[in-house]
Parts: sequence; structure tokens; C-alpha cells
Amino acid sequence: MARDIYLDNSATTPVSPAVAAVMARALTENYGNPSSLHARGTEAEKMLADARRALASRLEVKENELVFTSGGTEANNLAVIGGARRNRRRGRHLITSRVEHPSVLYACRRLEQEGFRVTYLDVDTTGRIDPAALPPALSGDTILVSIMHVNNEVGTIQPVEEIGRLVKAFRPDIIYHVDAVQSFGKLDVLPARWQADLVSFSAHKIHGPKGAGALYCRDGTALEPLLHGGDQERGLRPGTENTAGIAGFAEAARQAFAGREEKMRHMASLKQRLADGILNTIGGSVQNGPAPGAPHILSITIPGVRGEVLVHALAGEGIFISTGSACHSRRADPSHVLLAMGRTAGEIAATLRFSFSVYNTEAEIDFTLEKLRRAVSDFRLLAGRKK
Ligand SMILES: Cc1ncc(COP(=O)(O)O)c(C=O)c1O
Repeated sequence: MARDIYLDNSATTPVSPAVAAVMARALTENYGNPSSLHARGTEAEKMLADARRALASRLEVKENELVFTSGGTEANNLAVIGGARRNRRRGRHLITSRVEHPSVLYACRRLEQEGFRVTYLDVDTTGRIDPAALPPALSGDTILVSIMHVNNEVGTIQPVEEIGRLVKAFRPDIIYHVDAVQSFGKLDVLPARWQADLVSFSAHKIHGPKGAGALYCRDGTALEPLLHGGDQERGLRPGTENTAGIAGFAEAARQAFAGREEKMRHMASLKQRLADGILNTIGGSVQNGPAPGAPHILSITIPGVRGEVLVHALAGEGIFISTGSACHSRRADPSHVLLAMGRTAGEIAATLRFSFSVYNTEAEIDFTLEKLRRAVSDFRLLAGRKK
């Protein structure tokens, strides 16, 4: 098989040819600054407005409620830090979970240094938050709750609608933020139904460009900007807009939503095929996270073989997977997500993440399974001889 097999789509996805074409046009033809008054400027401004309208309609929100950012990390920082700082007079307490993306967890740490208090909700062995844990954590001092929709390491889907109901029943002015970076374009993302005030998005998880994303900011939700300098994006995110990236983001979303359910069925069936293949033929292997969970993320522990070793062995065959999240792969500390799910350091070191896109095929899954089985049995044989 000559072609690469790319199974690391939670880390990032390849830009689709249609997105690349839209972006090339934006870079070379509609290159104006949307704030300029001449024709090039108004063309760029129109392109920006079209992208905003298209994305807003997919989310069933108003156009002025979308703030374009440099991606999910910035959207999460703007939501958590911007929301907390702006509302500090009302309270100093935040709630999140132990399995959030580092862009939420580290933003919370920063706020702790500024005198805020943060409650980190536990998860069960599948990585799920129990909504019943929320009411006891809420207090008169709580100003913001931040929960992710789909976990990027294990694919657990959090009960964000139920959590939204509990937050708003306790006090409607608590800001509710949902990180939907891994779910947008795949599962239903409906800020209004979740009663979310803030929702984060990133283009590069849906075959769009890196460095483009957005924060949904419900009308009336007060945030303090992280950057200062201009009045773009209603002053919440000053700086000349990444027009090509934003146009590419809108095109990626358009494609993701076309036949979305069929695409999800395809990914879910690839995930099931690989999971069954591994669990039935590689002794001791276990799936992390709930089955089925999100259709595009599969986390598996294969005891006795370091995940890193298998990542390299498969890369030698042109198959690209990861040990956990991309943010963790270069760090020595074990995944905070798997730790929160009760896994041991040894189990975490033996964990692999496969993540799928609509471009993957059954033949790729079967080839991956064959190469994985071979690599595991070679390493187990070698380890046995060394004993
Ligand atoms: C759940 C989640 N949130 C936020 C991010 C950060 O997004 P970005 O890479 O656009 O900064 C990621 C990216 O891996 C993610 O998986």
C-alpha cells in the first residue's frame, strides 16, 4: 500500500482540496483588509460576512454572536479567562472537569494564580462526568462553568445539555461554556438547546486550516478581551482578521455538514471494525472510554507494549496514529485524562489513539490491524526472550 494511512484526525485533519481552493482565491484575489474602505477592502469584508453568516446558520445562532479567533485554544482562553475576569465582581469560583483540554485547564490555573477558585469535577472509568456532581459544586460565588462536549483523547461525549439545564436552574447568570472543538461538524452542536453562553470551535479538526476558529458568544455575555488594539470582532478579538482562514473554515463546515449523518455512520463503522479487530485478536487489549462514544475517536490499551513503540513501528509502515493527544505526545507526564479515568501509569504508557476521518477506508483499517497485530506479537516475543 503506497499511500499514507492517516489515523490521527483528532490531532489535525488534512485540508480538503475545496477548502484549499477557496483559501487560495482568498489569499490571491480577495486579499484586502476588511477594514479598508476601497473595493479590495469591501470584497474582503463581504467574504468575511458570508463566512460568518454560513457558520452562524449551521449553529442556529445570530451572526453577531460569532467571534473569530486563531483556533480552539484562543477561543477557550477567551471564554474562560475573559469570562472570569470580566465577571470577577460577581464571584470568584469556576467549575470545570479533570478531563478538559489543556487550553481550559491551564487557563483555569492562570486564574487560580489571580485569586479565583476552581472546582475540577471527577469522571467515571469511561471519562464521563456525572451531572449529579454539579449541583453540590455550585455556590453563590460561582461565575463560570466550562465543560467539553467530546473528549479529544478517548471520545467520551459529555452530557452538556443536562449540565446546562442544571447550571441555569441554579442561577441563569452563571456563564456556561462548552468546548465543541472535537464535535462541531460531526455531532449536533446546538448552543441554544444546551443553554450555553459560550462555545469554542476550531477549523483544522474538520479539514479546514490551522489557526482559524471561533467563539460563539451569546448576546449579552460579558467578556474581557485578551488582546487590545482594534475594534475588529466587536473589540473582543482585535487584530486584522485571518480572512483566508475564516473563508476556509466556512467552506470546511459546509462540506462537513453535507451528508453529515452518512459520514458519521462511515466513521463509526470504521471505528467498530478496528475496535473489534483489536479486542478480538490482541490478547489483553481494552478499549478506553465508552462504546460507542464519539464516532471518530478510539482509545485502546495493549498491555505490555509501550504505545510509543507501536506508534513508531506503524509509522514505519506509513500508518500514522498517536499515543494520546497531540499536546501530550512530547511530554513525559502521563495523560491527565486517562489518570482521571483511573488508569495506572503503566496502562497509560501502553495506550494508543486512533482517530478517523471521512477519507479513511475499510481497506486501510484492515491493513492497520494486520500491521498492528504483527508489531505487537514481535514485541511480545522479543520481551519474552529478554526475560
Ligand atoms: C477538545 C479540544 N479543545 C481545544 C483544542 C485546541 O484547538 P486548536 O488546536 O485549534 O488550538 C483541541 C485541539 O486539539 C481540542 O481537541
